[in-house]
Amino acid sequence: MEIIILRSAESVAAMAGELVAELLRVQPAAVLGLATGSTQLSLYRNLVEKYRDGGISFRGTTSFNLDEYLGVASENPQSYRTYMNREFFGCIDIDKRNTFLPCCGEDENPRLVGPRYEQKIREAGGIDLQLMGIGYNGHIGFNEPSSSLRSRTRVKTLTKQTLKDNSRLFAKNEFQPKLAITMGIATIMDARRILLLATGTNKAEAVRKTVEGPVSAMCPASVLQMHERVTVLLDEAAAAELSNRDYYDWTHLQNEALKDRFSDK
Ligand code: GLP
Repeated sequence: MEIIILRSAESVAAMAGELVAELLRVQPAAVLGLATGSTQLSLYRNLVEKYRDGGISFRGTTSFNLDEYLGVASENPQSYRTYMNREFFGCIDIDKRNTFLPCCGEDENPRLVGPRYEQKIREAGGIDLQLMGIGYNGHIGFNEPSSSLRSRTRVKTLTKQTLKDNSRLFAKNEFQPKLAITMGIATIMDARRILLLATGTNKAEAVRKTVEGPVSAMCPASVLQMHERVTVLLDEAAAAELSNRDYYDWTHLQNEALKDRFSDK
């Protein structure tokens, strides 16, 4: 794992934006794995700015989101589809027909959505770069603690903790979904590269377990230790509980000279 600790949440978004831009320069038709959540918002703003400045284009890209609520129509303001259209797809030149979320139509069997989504990802040639955040309990996508480490896209029941954490985004009497369709952990692990962003004190414990704890289904993000190319971008607050901090800073200094992180040359 490459652990990079930066001064602020803004620097995390800026560096993530740079890494995505580097990838798009080398591979304009990259397949992107995308995520929702508040941490990703500044990254999307950064990428939209880069697009507006003419620095990057998403015209050739295809995207697959990690997850979507079940029981919430795509047009619902609370759906992740709405979030993605509002925060990202609607602000860049990506062809919306090439943007996918594991949505389940009203008359569809939710159990069929997962295998179909996996098939689509395979047809697109697999995910080149998966962006993601992390839940307070170490979830990635909506793979809650105790998720099978070999899971594929499927329906998951959200934990009471996740419902509580995300309740801030719902009005008092608004319907808050308890189910979601999420890429599985094995689906995520198939991505060629992974970029995990975490900021703020309340992520510090999950980050410690992910980076320095044992690989365990009780902290789904810890499985990323088994992936070949993961970069973890943290602000000071999210890195506060790491014990191997000196080494991460030292490594980052040595690596800073490395250019073209995403070229395979
Ligand atoms: C949700 C999403 C996750 C995201 C997490 C953290 O639960 N399903 O993909 O990582 O929220 O979100 P935030 O960045 O808002 O803390």
